[in-house]
Amino acid sequence: MGRRRAHHPACRTARPITWRPVTELVSPQAEAYAEAHTSGVDGQLAEVASWTQSETAAPQMMSGLAEARLLEALIVASGARHVLEIGTFTGFGALTMAAAVSDGGHVTTLEVDEETAAVARRHIAASEYASRIELIVGNALETIERLPGPFDLVYIDAGKADYPAYYEAVMGKLSERGVIVADNLFRAGLVLDSSVDDAGTQGMREFARRVHEDERVHNVMLTIGDGVMLAWRRPAGG
Ligand SMILES: C[S@@+](CC[C@H](N)C(=O)[O-])C[C@H]1O[C@@H](n2cnc3c(N)ncnc32)[C@H](O)[C@@H]1O
Repeated sequence: MGRRRAHHPACRTARPITWRPVTELVSPQAEAYAEAHTSGVDGQLAEVASWTQSETAAPQMMSGLAEARLLEALIVASGARHVLEIGTFTGFGALTMAAAVSDGGHVTTLEVDEETAAVARRHIAASEYASRIELIVGNALETIERLPGPFDLVYIDAGKADYPAYYEAVMGKLSERGVIVADNLFRAGLVLDSSVDDAGTQGMREFARRVHEDERVHNVMLTIGDGVMLAWRRPAGG
């Protein structure tokens, strides 16, 4: 994953974190205003975010501040205890969610790349919430099959071509009042350009269509960050 240096994040002073918008689909002024009025991160989470920004080749893969606070709000408001994250990267999302689940709750996070997983493991080990997180290395589609669930919140944030398959794989493992959160619905604007048809962009379009047409769920697509989809079972009579 293009790690340039291998400092342990706990040994570094956190540098300022730049929550750059992934797209300019929303006006930069609105993005800046929203960021200025969104709770920032501090402590070990800030260390991990700062480390990811300075030491990885693709820091934009890390969840943004708005996504992180949205995940936290959903977990706190719903009392979610069993969380599944598909796509760990350096551990920022898993650590954010682990801090939000109540005592006895846990986050299972899935990462395909061994080297990336090793970085995330170091960040998780340095966290006071380490005992709440299980990191499983392997292709998420195979791993999910083995996970019993049910999950109160599933965060989909991995291979873009596989989003429709992730969705089908987790639907049957979602708790009755569970919520699916998926990142990168805009794919930095590529989904809106009809001349673009790479596998990842097609996967994201198909995911958006499938969720929206799925009679089992209600959904909302939010224009925060790089586009976030929320989906949950239709309430009885809804
Ligand atoms: C966008 S990053 C995840 C960011 C993370 N959720 C966060 O909050 O910072 C996507 C990660 O998914 C991993 N990934 C891609 N395909 C995968 C797969 N099939 N199974 C598991 N992980 C996968 C990538 O190696 C990468 O680390």
